[in-house]
Amino acid sequence: PAPGWAIDADVVVVGSGVAGLTAALRCAAAGHRTVVVTKARLDDGSTRWAQGGIAAALGEGDTPEQHRDDTLVAGAGLCDEAAVRTLVTEGPDAVRRLIATGARFDPDEDGAGIALTREGGHHRRRIAHAGGDATGAEISRALVEAVRAKGLRTIENALVLDLLTDAEGRTAGVTLHVMGEGQHDGVGAVHAPAVVLATGGMGQVFSATTNPSVSTGDGVALALRAGAEISDLEFVQFHPTVLYLGPEAEGQQPLISEAVRGEGAHLVDGDGVRFMVGQHELAELAPRDIVAKGIMRRAQEQGTEHMYLDARHFGAAMWEQRFPTILAACRSHGIDPVTEPIPVAPAAHYASGGVRTDLHGRTTVPGLYACGEVACTGVHGANRLASNSLLEGLVFAERIAADIGPRPLPRPGEPRLPEGPPVPLLAPETRFEIQRIMTAGVGVLRSADSIAGAYKALVRLTSRASAESEEGKSAEPGVEAWEATNLLLVARALVSGARAREETRGCHWREDHPDRNDEVWQRHSVVTFRPPHT
Ligand code: SIN
Repeated sequence: PAPGWAIDADVVVVGSGVAGLTAALRCAAAGHRTVVVTKARLDDGSTRWAQGGIAAALGEGDTPEQHRDDTLVAGAGLCDEAAVRTLVTEGPDAVRRLIATGARFDPDEDGAGIALTREGGHHRRRIAHAGGDATGAEISRALVEAVRAKGLRTIENALVLDLLTDAEGRTAGVTLHVMGEGQHDGVGAVHAPAVVLATGGMGQVFSATTNPSVSTGDGVALALRAGAEISDLEFVQFHPTVLYLGPEAEGQQPLISEAVRGEGAHLVDGDGVRFMVGQHELAELAPRDIVAKGIMRRAQEQGTEHMYLDARHFGAAMWEQRFPTILAACRSHGIDPVTEPIPVAPAAHYASGGVRTDLHGRTTVPGLYACGEVACTGVHGANRLASNSLLEGLVFAERIAADIGPRPLPRPGEPRLPEGPPVPLLAPETRFEIQRIMTAGVGVLRSADSIAGAYKALVRLTSRASAESEEGKSAEPGVEAWEATNLLLVARALVSGARAREETRGCHWREDHPDRNDEVWQRHSVVTFRPPHT
């Protein structure tokens, strides 16, 4: 839709997690008029939910090279080595700058340094954490306070819609739909020569996910409509240990951090047997895809939907001090981890792919940047290493600010909306149809048949939306209708990647192609799109 009002800025940051707020603070420090646009409140994204922590070679004897090696192994041959090198070498200082911004990590035993834990795929203790298992909440608190203290302009409750570009295809701003009371209700625009997408993930494309309800792939959908390249969307990471609340559970599910296993919890089957021992040298601390597959296999063998995480031996004091958030979440669902094993199953957790960028966070559209979960920088390859996500958000946000550089920025020409007919808006309840289709077709286990089923069902939804739009029956514009529309677009892109990748690699598990195929498929999937998308 055409914007009814417009404001002017140098940089628009869309999203307010660790990546967005770091980019905004750095751009503002460089003198840019920076506007942060966020769909709900500043702290409502995925960052706040991060439990385990942030990985960086901060410990004695650890090195960026060892962190690099673990990252490359998890990425199953698809990581961009230069991006990984950048992440692990710039990571430790980026964490120190985060501490200087105000984030307080848990101290080690003598209080002189930072306590470090282990998670899956890490051969060393290198995960810094805060509040025991509330690391993301602390990072979010520190960054939101810094943004407020610096007086950055923020627009909350604003769903970004489309990228504006000039006649040469250079970024010229974004349109957005602001909800609720205020000076800028309705559809408007922020005009700016640089746009940083930091909108987070798309876990809500599946029925059960650790992601909050706002994670609907809005940034990837915007980038697709703007003609940017999207890469590796088929690599959806399913976190192995999510509290199992029954087969009908939908929406955001409680995470049981890897750090619980890092501190010595065991995965056991219905008979109490530690089934990961002997499957991988790191047993319960193998990379996530291996543990998720181990759980699914054993569950299939035992004719059940879940396994158990046993950490009764921690005792009440350790549970209360080290994992207070998880303890409270389990107890609120009637499970007491101090006295009983926790039922767990994999659930959608992280998009390893996203909007394709270079090492400076530049996308294929001039002036459009992406960082954090929405981006595909190449550091995660086919499977992200645990606790590399907060770090990636930090490091690449800083690199984007450095690439944007100081004022003044060249101004683009007259802003224009993407070409093509308007996107047919879906009814909000279509979200649940999409989630069921994706869970059945491209969940942890995939095959040509299941993927083809998802593909056909999504095409049918697209045709139905187009027909309704032609009859003038499109849904009323609003956040939930836009979210459902974005979910359909990203679901289709994800399914295209999954359909084309006829091998098993990282977190893409094809039952009909059970092996990795280095000769044919050691390359990235790339999806681009221009409307009309039927
Ligand atoms: C966890 O605490 O297990 C989540 C960490 C991550 O996703 O990297």
